[in-house]
Amino acid sequence: MSDKKIIIAIDGYSSSGKSTMARALAAKIGYRYIDSGAMYRAVTLYALNNGIIDSQGNIDLPALVSALPSIRIDFKPMPDGTQHTLLNGEDVETEIRQLRVSDNVSPVAAVKEVRTALTDMQRSLGSDKGIVMDGRDIGTTVFPQAELKIFVNASAEMRARRRFLEMSNKGDIVNYEEVLANVVRRDHIDETRAESPLRRADDAIDLDNSQMTIDEQDGWLEEQFHRALNR
Ligand code: DC
Repeated sequence: MSDKKIIIAIDGYSSSGKSTMARALAAKIGYRYIDSGAMYRAVTLYALNNGIIDSQGNIDLPALVSALPSIRIDFKPMPDGTQHTLLNGEDVETEIRQLRVSDNVSPVAAVKEVRTALTDMQRSLGSDKGIVMDGRDIGTTVFPQAELKIFVNASAEMRARRRFLEMSNKGDIVNYEEVLANVVRRDHIDETRAESPLRRADDAIDLDNSQMTIDEQDGWLEEQFHRALNR
């Protein structure tokens, strides 16, 4: 492989399988993987744990904005090749995936100051290239110059089924209808927010993986990577 390193932006709807494919590609090609959604989730967890979001889901905006400088997010590589999200040094990987966070994250991700702070962190993580980052606005806002941009989609029902199985397998007690409602609600907020809405970059390559196996998807992505590297 040549020494040339690129930036790979993988955007798409929630539970579309972007993280799975992004992580697998990064491991295969020796790039760093960053789950930008985990960063929005970590900020949301901080807000929930510090009384910045009340039990009705209302956000105290001035408190959230002034808390931002005291929120540090890091990623810790694990022996099994995955990585865990650290919030001010504490491993919060399990907590940020729970429904309590999923239910509150989209409104937090719609706050301009939150986006600016996280976008800055994401850009500095990608300053040496050699990175695969997944999210909603990576190809449009964070790295508009990324050499490879993928936009992933699958039906809401398919995505809810995947998320439901993932959560049930982890032992969470969840109800499919509730998970589907959360997916649909998040899609709507993510697509209609004023700041960096979820949108396909004009130069992104589309992938609908509703009917693909994980192996097929991984193979397809690797091929796109080699093409982008040789362009
Ligand atoms: O990918 P995810 O479901 O873990 O993302 C969690 C939330 O964060 C989701 O509601 C959208 C938001 N998000 C975002 O606005 N921009 C990103 N780059 C990544 C995630």
